[in-house]
Amino acid sequence: MKLPSSSATNLDKKDMRHMISMKDFTTQEMDDMMNLMALLKEARKDNAVPQLFKDKSVAMIFEAGSTRTRVSFEVAATLLGGHGLFLSPRDIHLGAKESIDDTARVLSRMCDIVMARTNDPETIDALCHMSTVPVINGLDTRFHPTQMLADLFTIREHIKDGRKLSDLTLAFMGDATDVCRSLLLTCTKYGMNFKQIGPVKYQMEQEWLDIADTYCAETGASYEITDNVDAIKECDVVYGDSFYWVTQLDEKKERLDAFMPDYVITEELMAAAKPGAMLLHCLPANDKEEVTREALEGEYSVAFDEAENRLTAQMAILVYFTHKFIDMPSEETKKMHEDKINDFLGQL
Ligand code: CP
Repeated sequence: MKLPSSSATNLDKKDMRHMISMKDFTTQEMDDMMNLMALLKEARKDNAVPQLFKDKSVAMIFEAGSTRTRVSFEVAATLLGGHGLFLSPRDIHLGAKESIDDTARVLSRMCDIVMARTNDPETIDALCHMSTVPVINGLDTRFHPTQMLADLFTIREHIKDGRKLSDLTLAFMGDATDVCRSLLLTCTKYGMNFKQIGPVKYQMEQEWLDIADTYCAETGASYEITDNVDAIKECDVVYGDSFYWVTQLDEKKERLDAFMPDYVITEELMAAAKPGAMLLHCLPANDKEEVTREALEGEYSVAFDEAENRLTAQMAILVYFTHKFIDMPSEETKKMHEDKINDFLGQL
């Protein structure tokens, strides 16, 4: 069934895919997206990104603040020849004066893809329900899939000694955040070992471990959830994230007391990890809390390469999720419309 959507699209419902969590994708699909990232990154270096999103638009709904996700999607759309529309709750009626269903239907008629960072996961699920163009999760309280793609790709770029992603163990330091949960599921699904090292009170919920168990059975990966910082010595990748989110400011003191100093990423912690271990951080970082400035600036830190790869990932996402259904008009079609419109205007 053809879907009513932006005039530029020719989308069949069976081709329609959203990106809510990396758990919706096979290892092969993750590899496909990363290989596309590599090609687009090379093209960007030569200032020669193909116009694969030409004259197309991505609606970017942000209920919460963002530097990397917002800038990377907007710049990615521009580099690919298209346009990003920044839509905060002050700009649109989302769920206030207009239902989310109707918002999704209207955006689908005008834009080619929707990206949303929502405060409530039900909002993005509702957008998916009625959208007739792909919806990309730009972070909800459960998952951060676009971050995962940039992270896997960054690790892959920096692996040494001919090893593969599936040879590695990643340690997430701290709270069971959306990024931690996404890493648990993405790593184990991909065949990488995963550890969360943090205080018992802030460790991963059982429902996500149950899903990770099924991935481990399929891929041979393993995970460990521990409060013992010594577990870092088996790790090739150390990953940091904030010890509290903006909605948890009332818990800030209690959280900092629980996490500091044991779970802070320092130069000493990095020295205790496997030789050659790399440091990732999804950013923004607080260098007085979860990571020291010295560690963040260490020669093992790839946190800013990781941030730049958010742009590499968003270019690939815009192309991967739209390329099958965006019709590029022929020169003949463009000329035919231009002539018709000019004839009409000439008679006014
Ligand atoms: N890591 C991340 O999502 O950064 P922003 O909140 O700045 O988008």
